Amino acid sequence: MKSLAAFAWPGNPAPRVCPTSGGGMLNSVGLAGPGVERWIIEDLPALKDRGARIIVSVWGRSIEEFAAAAEPLGRVAGDLTAVEVNVSCPNIEDRSRMFAHAPAMTGAAIRAVRNALESGGGDALPVFAKLSPNTSELVEVAGAALEAGAAGLTLVNTLLGLAIDAERRSPALGAGGGGLSGPPMKAVALRAVWEVARAHPGTAIIGTGGVGSGLDAVEMLLAGAVRGGGGDCDLCRATGRTPGGRRAEGVVRTTGSSA
Ligand SMILES: Cc1cc2nc3c(=O)[nH]c(=O)nc-3n(C[C@H](O)[C@H](O)[C@H](O)COP(=O)(O)O)c2cc1C
Repeated sequence: MKSLAAFAWPGNPAPRVCPTSGGGMLNSVGLAGPGVERWIIEDLPALKDRGARIIVSVWGRSIEEFAAAAEPLGRVAGDLTAVEVNVSCPNIEDRSRMFAHAPAMTGAAIRAVRNALESGGGDALPVFAKLSPNTSELVEVAGAALEAGAAGLTLVNTLLGLAIDAERRSPALGAGGGGLSGPPMKAVALRAVWEVARAHPGTAIIGTGGVGSGLDAVEMLLAGAVRGGGGDCDLCRATGRTPGGRRAEGVVRTTGSSA
């Protein structure tokens, strides 16, 4: 599922996805979603009926918005496996710098989500931090998330990218730039997992980024992850497209991550 905010959010203008060379894709969906309260009413029951293990991803543009997105989840904690905090979004209280590019802000978001879950009765729910590869401070950001009480990390979100439509002489996506996912980013994701696993031994890491086969997932485990997750590749399966013709076997579908 997509990451959820405390409010309904329309996301970015179309087009929101386009293919890139090397079997990747660029997206600028912009975290469109119905808001967490509506999701609990409209989507959660069907997921429960299917016996899904549910990891809900939340996002916000301020610390208060992260808390507001998490609070209702405390009330349905018994139906959930974990909450993932997508800190790859701009902080309107910090000149729109990404939370995930600032260790202190990442820690504050994790703390706010944990406190909000606790106040709703969900104190036992593990909280994962979903981090961005677009920073030279990934290891420090990871440390701040863990210090704030994250039970584990999801590494990584998409890489900042741009596709140009040469015929239209403009960016291919409606929002301009987007996030690169799929096979072209696998090496970046592996390196992120590798570095964080060595800096913070024993951390539960879900490795996402170009995992489209059992072998890709094994590589993630060897880099230091406890799970390999597929986002783009789930989308590819849903649309009948498999990047590079590979079969996506043995891949654990993760989080809000997983489109
Ligand atoms: C269309 C699309 C939508 C995504 N939406 C979210 C999202 O809502 N929240 C999030 O944390 N990550 C989101 N991601 C990022 C993925 O979860 C994942 O971290 C990234 O795509 C790298 O993994 P992959 O190469 O397996 O796709 C999205 C990715 C794609 C392609």
